[in-house]
Amino acid sequence: MTSPDHNPSPSPNGSLLSLHGPEFAADPEGVYRRLRAYGPIAPVELSPGVPGMLVTDYQVALEILRDQVRFPRDARRWQQGIPSDCPVLPIMAYRPTCNLTDDPLRSRLREAVTDTLDRVDHNALRTFVERSANRLVGRMSPLGEVDLRTEYALVLPLLVFNELCGCPAELGERMVAAVREVLKWENSEEANMTLGFAVLELMALKRENPGPDLTTWLMDHPAELTDEEVAHQIVMLVGAGSELAQNLIVNTLRLLLSDERFRGGLSGGSLSVEDALDEVLWTDPPLANFGISYPVEPLDFHGVRLPADQPVVISFAAANNDPATRAEDRAGNRAHLSWGIGPHACPAQGQARVIATVAIERLLDGLPDMELAVPAEELTWRPGFIQRALSSLPVRFPPAPGPPQPLPGDPYPPAGPGAVAEPPAGPAAEEAPMPRPPARWWRRLANWWAGDTA
Ligand code: HEM
Repeated sequence: MTSPDHNPSPSPNGSLLSLHGPEFAADPEGVYRRLRAYGPIAPVELSPGVPGMLVTDYQVALEILRDQVRFPRDARRWQQGIPSDCPVLPIMAYRPTCNLTDDPLRSRLREAVTDTLDRVDHNALRTFVERSANRLVGRMSPLGEVDLRTEYALVLPLLVFNELCGCPAELGERMVAAVREVLKWENSEEANMTLGFAVLELMALKRENPGPDLTTWLMDHPAELTDEEVAHQIVMLVGAGSELAQNLIVNTLRLLLSDERFRGGLSGGSLSVEDALDEVLWTDPPLANFGISYPVEPLDFHGVRLPADQPVVISFAAANNDPATRAEDRAGNRAHLSWGIGPHACPAQGQARVIATVAIERLLDGLPDMELAVPAEELTWRPGFIQRALSSLPVRFPPAPGPPQPLPGDPYPPAGPGAVAEPPAGPAAEEAPMPRPPARWWRRLANWWAGDTA
């Protein structure tokens, strides 16, 4: 390992290596390789003008993820110096959710979130996923060619979360539409407002009519979360959960459709969907770089000086492929860091696996002759350091007879030839009264994704 003292910058021209832009998206492993030559933790540029330290070493990543004292998560000191239009602020800024807070608040929120997720019945979840998958496959099958990301992987987890949260159909459709807008990361005030109102409406509904769902369980948890805290945890669960589940589905489908070892598996060959999922978790984890902490004092750590109040980012992707610990044969080995580890480890690993596996199996059953519509090398990845996410996954297959059927009240009806348009929602639905939240904390919720915590 090269000492940082002999190599003050990982880049030959002295500038920081960038984790944004098309070059990083096209070849992140090439960037991680150059950073490893610098040491276990290297300085990088997270976004134009925003420096950070990236951890690429597996053992050092473990040490940091387990140490809440030296590596706290609260971003508020850091974000004071960051312009409000900085593109990474929406996802890095402080919010009162279990992933972005420290104890004692973190423990309280985490307990409510994990207890709530633990109550999800995996058989019921499987049924939700199958039902949603069948609807979407039925809608796509007459089209002959679709982008699986936008038409399938993006919508399916949202439909499943609607069911898990106990959302009635019309409100669920508004939530799906709003989360889709928010996840375009364009800081749309309107989308933030729509999503926030939909969550509040859902909470008001569940207060009147409690049910066996995530919303009711969170509101009733003995940790006694405030309404504001409940709303924040729901948006985190639905927003982060659906986006990461989407990427897990898309990245795994790409592997299944492009790699000969798995192509055989599609028609009863050697390797299974579960095998493909495990391989993606090692090589292309949906959450590629996160687990962000901010030391409160300057820290000398593994030969590197970590500045106070600056982001230390864990590269789950680089640590998984650390040459010092990388096993050649990974069959049956799940020691990757792609679910995180320690006090912030993903509490929904089982649920996310069920969603991804069932979604992929149902799709392969429903469209068995599907193939990539472009060569795998031409697929492009979305820019940004946090997620490993394809821009699109175009496929083609022999179309089934008949026009595509829209989902009832579908805000995103199928776009293909012969698609049947759904009439717009009636005035009764549009004019339904919406609960108004308390102004002070509503402002914070509405600005959540914009990173404005003032
Ligand atoms: C059902 C979908 C999912 C839900 C509801 C969910 C929920 C969560 C929550 C609530 C946390 C924060 C835990 C805490 O800080 O106490 C978390 C963390 C995490 N999740 Fe998930 N997750 C989902 C899917 C995924 C997927 C598909 C992946 C990628 C394989 C993933 C990877 C992670 C990682 C790496 C962390 C730790 C991040 C950190 O250390 O800051 N999650 N997840």
